[in-house]
Amino acid sequence: MLTGKKITLGIAGGIAVYKVAELVSGLIKKGAVVKVIMTEGAQKFVQPLTFSALTGHDVYTDTFNSPRSGGVTHIELAQRADLFVVVPATANIIGKVASGIADDLLSTVLLAADCPVIICPAMNTVMYKNPVVQQNIAKLQQLGYHFIGPNCGRLACGTEGPGRMSEPGEILKYIAGFFQPGDLQGVNILVSAGPTREPVDPVRFITNRSSGKMGYSIAKVALQRGANVTLVSGPVNLSPPAGVELIKVETAQQMHTAMLERYDAAEVVIKSAAVADYRPLQVADKKIKKTADDLTLSMVKNPDILAELGQLKKHQILVGFAAETNDLDTYAREKLHKKNLDLLVANNVASPGAGFDVDTNVVSLYYRHQQVEHLPLMDKQQVAQRILDGVVALLAARRDGKG
Ligand code: PMT
Repeated sequence: MLTGKKITLGIAGGIAVYKVAELVSGLIKKGAVVKVIMTEGAQKFVQPLTFSALTGHDVYTDTFNSPRSGGVTHIELAQRADLFVVVPATANIIGKVASGIADDLLSTVLLAADCPVIICPAMNTVMYKNPVVQQNIAKLQQLGYHFIGPNCGRLACGTEGPGRMSEPGEILKYIAGFFQPGDLQGVNILVSAGPTREPVDPVRFITNRSSGKMGYSIAKVALQRGANVTLVSGPVNLSPPAGVELIKVETAQQMHTAMLERYDAAEVVIKSAAVADYRPLQVADKKIKKTADDLTLSMVKNPDILAELGQLKKHQILVGFAAETNDLDTYAREKLHKKNLDLLVANNVASPGAGFDVDTNVVSLYYRHQQVEHLPLMDKQQVAQRILDGVVALLAARRDGKG
């Protein structure tokens, strides 16, 4: 599957370096030709000898003193690869790539690379959550760099949270998938994400805590798996994954129009947006002034977009979400049937690390034909993978006349 594929592996300095040996071994077993670059920090954790023994090639460590057969080392390394994987990727190397800094061999080769680059972050949770690191990651994602992980769990520094390098098996699976046509190749997927804003007056609105992270993760993973993705998004602070068609909306009514306009062309619809159920009956045309001690707002029901899509459903696979704080199972089954869905992603938003405005989620997948899959706490991108695995199975069942 990876036979003859030329993979350059950039190893930066972090405790997870020891895990990379397992990844390299897996790549070699699958027939890949692997060349390794190690930063100075990486060599403090594991000797280059380990990787030269595993790959059968010298390891590159120094811009000015590297093994080569003529030519300029960093240009050769950059341009000989089918894929570049940075693992583990520290905040430092991510920051350098995002800023165009080339002050050692790894950052120099990365800057000269013209092949796809996969980055596998691994760092302390607080570092990972630092807005500067998040901005660097968002910038690189926007530029088309691929990210795997990080996972959540116990870190070497004793803390618990996101920052753990993805497991070698996961990374290997992703790399193998990279060279295969995606299992959603050419499928038109319509995703909704983020909150809606329901105006009260020119300066105020009613909204909710949705950050859009769940929906944007679905869009990104669907794109990676070959789908044509249209993303209808409420107002969020995220950059859309490069390659999606982005439709920006604010209100539930605008989202309703945008989704219905694109429904016929969609083969799969995934409604992860948190749509306001009600909107103010009247929107004041001037700012409401503070006068009486209390203020009553009359609200009117918004269209239930998902229910309407369920009624109009023809060829589409329809996936809905349910954000619940209690009686998850009852409400999930009710929504699945009432809204005529093929798959319902039940989100216990009261569970720690799940739901609104976090990087992780805890969901259960309720399929039309009774089957239920309870998933543990996962990064939202991993949740997206599992939802899309479900979609692929539903599409296959339909193709075989079983769905
Ligand atoms: O954006 P994040 O910060 O990453 O958070 C993710 C999330 C918590 C928003 C997401 O995982 C989630 O649970 N989305 C659904 C939120 C929601 O509105 O749930 P609900 O149970 O109220 O609605 C059920 C379904 O009907 C949803 O698919 C919703 O998109 C849809 N709906 C709801 C109301 C409405 N008027 N029209 C709709 O289409």
